[in-house]
Amino acid sequence: MNVCIEKATRLSGEVRLPGDKSLSHRALIFGALSHRLTEIRNLAPGKDVEATARCLRALGATIERIDHGVRIQGPKRLQTPTGVLDCGNSGTTMRLLCGVIAGAKIAAVLDGDESLRRRPMGRVLEPLRRLGARCEGRRGPNGEELAPLVFHAGGSLVGKEIAIPVASAQVKSALLLAGLLADVPVRVREPVLSRDHTERMLAAFAPDGRLPLRLPDALDMPGDPSSAAFLAAAATFVPDAELLLLDMNANPTRIGWVEALRRMGGRVELRDERVVAGEPVATVVVRHARPLRAIRVEAAEVPALIDELPVLAVLATQAEGTTEIRGARELRVKESDRIEAMAEGLSRLGARIEALDDGLRIHGPTPLRGARVRAHGDHRVAMSLAVAGLVAEGQTWIEGGEWAEISFPDFYDLLERLGA
Ligand code: S3P
Repeated sequence: MNVCIEKATRLSGEVRLPGDKSLSHRALIFGALSHRLTEIRNLAPGKDVEATARCLRALGATIERIDHGVRIQGPKRLQTPTGVLDCGNSGTTMRLLCGVIAGAKIAAVLDGDESLRRRPMGRVLEPLRRLGARCEGRRGPNGEELAPLVFHAGGSLVGKEIAIPVASAQVKSALLLAGLLADVPVRVREPVLSRDHTERMLAAFAPDGRLPLRLPDALDMPGDPSSAAFLAAAATFVPDAELLLLDMNANPTRIGWVEALRRMGGRVELRDERVVAGEPVATVVVRHARPLRAIRVEAAEVPALIDELPVLAVLATQAEGTTEIRGARELRVKESDRIEAMAEGLSRLGARIEALDDGLRIHGPTPLRGARVRAHGDHRVAMSLAVAGLVAEGQTWIEGGEWAEISFPDFYDLLERLGA
């Protein structure tokens, strides 16, 4: 499907953000490990979180849809799924469930779509095998492990300290979940702190590090800061824009983009900070800002804004000077190679952008003009290019714009409602 975006002259209003996707995957998993009924409210919409729910049902969880959420209850023991666990496009579903299945020592096969089958899985399988899990992936052309993945029943896990070479919340979470389910102590060391939602939930729901979990009757998911970043970038671009983003998850491991946007000269304000479901939450006000200044993004800050780098690249096209994003090689193994996808899309729109081995270099500001661009089957590329389309002259056509459905099904309708 093609989506057409026109230059926006208005963007204002109040936004109830979609529920946080990262947290929603985890809330579902913890819900499926608890024997009590839990209501998860404002669950993230979109196909990724649906994939997690589908797989958890196949493992024996009871999940009932309610308005903007689910009621979930785990089985007495996780079941061996009768079919392949289809993780769709979702890396988080696949990698987190690897930990659950390894810890439960059940047999399962995990698979996903074309994009997920290209993404590295050795990073999670290898450390799980070091704990004693019996699992392997299909071998790719260079011997790397890829989906489909196979887990064998039985065996026993041993507690260990594991140092992971790349900061990855998915890998870290898989290892911690495996330790929880197998009842062995697991400690993970990562080079830079990645998002810590799993640790926060463990501390809240399994304070002694053991099952059974103690979940509250209801969990409210705060708004997704990654989805908020697209709206904040859009508001920064559009003259006189002002958006009020309600109840955004303001976990410091997630909002590196707020700091980066401020360094660029963006006007972002966090108000009314409080704690909901163990996560800091704030109301965010974003206003139009110009001129914007180029910034440098270094390796140490990358984990806290990894998913927002594509839209930061879009912002950089309108900033004075040369923006450099480094230490972000991980972008190459996301839903698409986001370095190449963004370099291609933004240069078609007239930006001066270079793909680097580990990031992007963008010379700004350059006026953008509408063109045909490609989403590369990647929700964040689709939405980033849509934001670029809001400042580009004329019409921007996004091939595969519907990929936004992975995390933010309402994205285009919401932009229209706000005046775009
Ligand atoms: C996620 C972790 C990050 C992030 C992804 C969601 C999570 O991936 O990019 O969108 O929910 O744990 P990595 O673990 O590969 O860094």
